[in-house]
Amino acid sequence: MTTREQVLETLKQVIDPEWSRSVVELNLIRDIMVKEDSLSLTYLVSAGTTEGGKELRRGALQDALKELHKGELRIRFREMTEFDLNELEKNRAATKDPHAPPQQAGKPGPSILSPESGVEFIAVASGKGGVGKSTVTVNLAVALARRRKKVGIVDADIYGFSIPDMMGIEEGPQLVDERIIPVEKFGVKVISMGFFVQDNAPVIWRGPMLGKMLRNFFHEVNWGDVEIILLDLPPGTGDVALDVHQLIPHSQEIIVTTPHATASFVAARAGAMARNTNHDILGIVENMAYYECPKCGEKDYVFGRGGGAKLADELHTQLLAQLPLGAPDNHPAEPDYSPSVYKEDSATGQLYLKLADAVLDYM
Ligand SMILES: Nc1ncnc2c1ncn2[C@@H]1O[C@H](COP(=O)(O)OP(=O)(O)OP(=O)(O)O)[C@@H](O)[C@H]1O
Ligand SMILES: [Mg+2]
Repeated sequence: MTTREQVLETLKQVIDPEWSRSVVELNLIRDIMVKEDSLSLTYLVSAGTTEGGKELRRGALQDALKELHKGELRIRFREMTEFDLNELEKNRAATKDPHAPPQQAGKPGPSILSPESGVEFIAVASGKGGVGKSTVTVNLAVALARRRKKVGIVDADIYGFSIPDMMGIEEGPQLVDERIIPVEKFGVKVISMGFFVQDNAPVIWRGPMLGKMLRNFFHEVNWGDVEIILLDLPPGTGDVALDVHQLIPHSQEIIVTTPHATASFVAARAGAMARNTNHDILGIVENMAYYECPKCGEKDYVFGRGGGAKLADELHTQLLAQLPLGAPDNHPAEPDYSPSVYKEDSATGQLYLKLADAVLDYM
């Protein structure tokens, strides 16, 4: 009689069409039951897999098993849960793509999500919208690049992408050898949903498609030589933020808040989410902390005071920076214009360099 082990051994050669890896290595085949003359098993597929997609998979299994097992073959399909997906990402990162061409010079190494890649992830989160996550992401990335680090940004705010505009990026990414090359500006490599949406049309994808898009940002993008990737998270603790938390095996987190006490109360929830998904909190950035009078230099704490320090205390972490109110002094006529990047020699530009140093220290 056929054994479970023989079935697994035989199915090793079957490659899942969506994930381009062996169905056995990805642990997609479950509940194998061998009886006298029947064999049944479950095949895990992602949510939204079409009937055609299932037929394709069924055919591949039937083909592979026809020598080993002559009796009845029953194949069930089950949609993956978030947990399954998370497990699958880990398995996928740990295995090789059988269709991948042999490695050539300059070709990407292991997936940037796998531990061997050595890439550090820093997610920038907040409890609520509009507190300056994207501003902090962009300027911290630029500051790290000014410190000669090789930096990338994943604009993980799929609905509310804003990074390309904030950095003044006008061109889209190029496709080389069927992989997306991130757009580089101020020494920072950027990938954003904004590059794939026409005329600022709203993005209406949900659940599985969103997750898939995010995964593509890691797997289908040729990041080249990168040391640190910053993730600009969507506001709050919603589905997408959670998806990102689960997708990245390990990241450190910076939580942005305004100085108001209630703002930091809301931000504490984002901190709790980071902890629940096993991410370390690197520290707190208090944005819009004060307004400094350009004439007398006096600081006016317009939005209250102490929220950042209080939050750092609550989450047992450090307050990494307090950034003042004030837009960058940039003009559209300048070459290399960007609406949101502070110049290196400006007061806020210098504070961002200090933030970059603190981040490198604590990482
Ligand atoms: N320190 C600051 N001084 C003045 N304006 C600021 C400051 N930080 C951010 N802003 C402005 O506040 C607005 C919100 O900032 P930003 O888009 O970075 O926030 P966000 O948390 O990413 O928002 P969302 O939740 O919508 O993604 C933007 O117009 C930005 O230019
Ligand atoms: Mg934002």
